Amino acid sequence: MKLWGIADQVVRLAILLAIVGGVTVALRARFVPPSFGETGHYRAEAVTIAAELPVRYAGSEICAECHDDQEELRRRSYHRGLSCEVCHGAAAAHAEDFEAQQPLVPRARGEACLACHEYLPSRPTGFPQIIERLHNPLEPCVGCHDPHDPTPPEVPSSCAACHAQIERTKAVSHHLALTCETCHEAAPEHRIEPRSHLPNKPTAREACGRCHAEGADSGAEIPRVDLDTHGPRYLCWQCHYPHHPEA
Ligand code: HEC
Ligand code: HEC
Ligand code: HEC
Ligand code: HEC
Ligand code: HEC
Ligand code: HEC
Ligand code: HEC
Ligand code: HEC
Repeated sequence: MKLWGIADQVVRLAILLAIVGGVTVALRARFVPPSFGETGHYRAEAVTIAAELPVRYAGSEICAECHDDQEELRRRSYHRGLSCEVCHGAAAAHAEDFEAQQPLVPRARGEACLACHEYLPSRPTGFPQIIERLHNPLEPCVGCHDPHDPTPPEVPSSCAACHAQIERTKAVSHHLALTCETCHEAAPEHRIEPRSHLPNKPTAREACGRCHAEGADSGAEIPRVDLDTHGPRYLCWQCHYPHHPEA
């Protein structure tokens, strides 16, 4: 069938387009909000609605009016660029009436810190980053770092700071006078990230033999054993606890 001599498929296409166009116009009238397009490619009303939302953030200045201690610390610290509410959450209600709302206090390990300090290759070089799993695990971050003034704390200088039990055991043993480094080589990094830089431990009988072997060049008062016959098939520390050796 031909209408005014126009090809069949063109007629069908024209009908289809007419339907689509009609539906679009109908839907637009039904669903596009009235204020759309008044001032730009958006709903003009949205501006008023957004302005009416309750203010939840108080901003970075008002906190200092009552918390000058924290503000004083933060202002001179590495965290000077951070606003209080980055960690304490929206606190406008609290700033308005401090009894009405208690801000969040993120004391749990990593709660407030890892979003910025967990290692990510895409962070700028030099930005202080840690690998949470390895960096002094188990303790909360605020146990060692003041969140308002996070200078890295002093690195513990003695092994006993972390290995107190071994130190105390050794102190009442025949090995009292031996330093830990006599038997362990500990890199300085071990004190900072202990688990990723483990010191070495003696692996052979000769480590003890250098003091206890017959003829070893050590102090005269050190008891000697014959390495060839004294428990030869075992490591010395399978029989003697090295931090508290007993005969
Ligand atoms: C009008 C004074 C005032 C202002 C402004 C104010 N606070 Fe407080 N804030 C207080 C008082 C008082 C307390 C102690 C409340 C208590 O112990 O019950 C407190 C407690 C806190 C606590 C500790 C809550 C806890 O559970 O230990 C935090 C954190 C805190 N405020 C953060 C903020 C932040 C962030 C701001 C800024 C957005 C702010 N405050 C603004 C008066 C104020
Ligand atoms: C980097 C995150 C961070 C920032 C930024 C921060 N705080 Fe805190 N704040 C904490 C943490 C974590 C604690 C809990 C400390 C603790 O228990 O030792 C805390 C504790 C507090 C307390 C409770 C009292 C105390 O010292 O333990 C108040 C009050 C407080 N902060 C106010 C503020 C104010 C005001 C600012 C902005 C000047 C601010 N904080 C900025 C993380 C932060
Ligand atoms: C919003 C991001 C942010 C959060 C959250 C944050 N920090 Fe920071 N932190 C920074 C910035 C920025 C610096 C300064 C970096 C610089 O000076 O290059 C910094 C510096 C530090 C430093 C100093 C490191 C150094 O030697 O330069 C320590 C330590 C630190 N933060 C610990 C913490 C702890 C602990 C928490 C959680 C209570 C925390 N940070 C939460 C952004 C953050
Ligand atoms: C047992 C104490 C301890 C705990 C717990 C601890 N840290 Fe540290 N942190 C240190 C010491 C010590 C240093 C100093 C290392 C150095 O000078 O490089 C340090 C350094 C840092 C640095 C700076 C790294 C750099 O390369 O400059 C950041 C960031 C940091 N810590 C964040 C954290 C965060 C986040 C947590 C919780 C997940 C945390 N720390 C828990 C002791 C601790
Ligand atoms: C900041 C805390 C800290 C300090 C300081 C420290 N250590 Fe450790 N050390 C650790 C932790 C954590 C481990 C891991 C324990 C584990 O994996 O069970 C460890 C493990 C070791 C190990 C066992 C290695 C292994 O393969 O099992 C030796 C040996 C050791 N430390 C020796 C030393 C010596 C020597 C010093 C002093 C120069 C020292 N440490 C200082 C925290 C510390
Ligand atoms: C006389 C040599 C000697 C001295 C001194 C010594 N150690 Fe050891 N230590 C050993 C040997 C050997 C082992 C391995 C034991 C094993 O593999 O069963 C060991 C194991 C360890 C371990 C891992 C196993 C454990 O017992 O927890 C730690 C941690 C450790 N030493 C820390 C220390 C510290 C800290 C000091 C100083 C306070 C110290 N050592 C002094 C010989 C010594
Ligand atoms: C740097 C030298 C030195 C090294 C290395 C050393 N010791 Fe000793 N050892 C001593 C001295 C000093 C004594 C104490 C002598 C005294 O009490 O008069 C001693 C005492 C002993 C005793 C005798 C305890 C008793 O009851 O009389 C035993 C057992 C012993 N060490 C085992 C070991 C073992 C096992 C190792 C290797 C893990 C080791 N020692 C490494 C210096 C060393
Ligand atoms: C199979 C277990 C065993 C092994 C392995 C072993 N010992 Fe002993 N050690 C003993 C016993 C048991 C005694 C006490 C009886 C004796 O003197 O034979 C002793 C005594 C000693 C004494 C004290 C000797 C004295 O005259 O007071 C020293 C020092 C000693 N051992 C060092 C070592 C050293 C160093 C090694 C490794 C080279 C080692 N032992 C390996 C079991 C062992």
